[in-house]
Amino acid sequence: MIVLTNTDGARGVGKSAHLLGQGTSALDAIEAGIRIVEADETVRTVGRGGWPNLLGEVELDGSIMDGTTLRTGAVGALQGFLHPVSVARQVLERLPHEMLVGAGAARFAAEIGAERSDNLTADSRRSWQSWFEREVPPDLRQAWPDVPMIDLCRHAIDPETGRDTTVFLAQDSNGHIATGTSTSGWGWKYPGRLGDSPIIGAGSYADTRYGACACTGAGEMAIRTGAARAVVLYMKMGLSVGDAVEEAVEDMRRLTTGLVSRVTIHAIDAAANHKVVAVNGNPSNTYWMWRDGETEPRCHPAEIRVITSADSKPTASLRYAAQPL
Ligand code: GLY
Repeated sequence: MIVLTNTDGARGVGKSAHLLGQGTSALDAIEAGIRIVEADETVRTVGRGGWPNLLGEVELDGSIMDGTTLRTGAVGALQGFLHPVSVARQVLERLPHEMLVGAGAARFAAEIGAERSDNLTADSRRSWQSWFEREVPPDLRQAWPDVPMIDLCRHAIDPETGRDTTVFLAQDSNGHIATGTSTSGWGWKYPGRLGDSPIIGAGSYADTRYGACACTGAGEMAIRTGAARAVVLYMKMGLSVGDAVEEAVEDMRRLTTGLVSRVTIHAIDAAANHKVVAVNGNPSNTYWMWRDGETEPRCHPAEIRVITSADSKPTASLRYAAQPL
């Protein structure tokens, strides 16, 4: 048994660990842990209290994946509800679909009786208003919101503080592996922007046979490299969890155009080994982990890798593992 989460998941990981210890499924334990983070207004990148988009509206993304059935549920750009992870769980449980976005996601949330919430806190409203008055020229302020937003988006809130998420990866007492994610995405993002968190295969992926991976940070980079699915596939091809994550870092090294910023890759394998690497990270990149037999979750520093060049080269172990295929 194991549960692993990023820094922003600290408030919920104890609940997940407790539930796993009682024999609860990985899916239920993850959902319960993420719900605590979503309701915590002090976590500025997830749920209520998360940063709004350029229009000052909080759009939430979330997902959950069952690594045994490979069923997933995801919601994107969901407004007005407190727990995107639970709405995503119900997409998995009740629909023949895997992802809903925008008005459709809100309609579904209302139909299942999900908890409503005004997710824009007074503090977030003040921050957005102060940005609006400081950064938006007077002619645009007058015509707001029917104005071009491309340039505003490019000069949005400091991405290092305005972008993140929470991710949970777990294996339960029956060996089942699952992942869950939840985020408000970039602060001052272009309305409708989805990061990697609701994109299964980019921000998360789980396969009970091999392991799981989930990413935080600049979702654009995880989308472009299909990072989470790649890590699990590399494990399927024979790499250890550590080598699989290093291979995903090499994939990201090829990204020289577009947004190249910070991503943290979290991974576990089916034997409860793990690896967490912060690409272009800093010492504040930590993760929380609990394993069977431990009294409580503990905080650990992530390993740091710096992307400085485009000379991507597959690791020796991947070339070897790939030969027989
Ligand atoms: N990793 C979260 C996001 O990019 O929205």
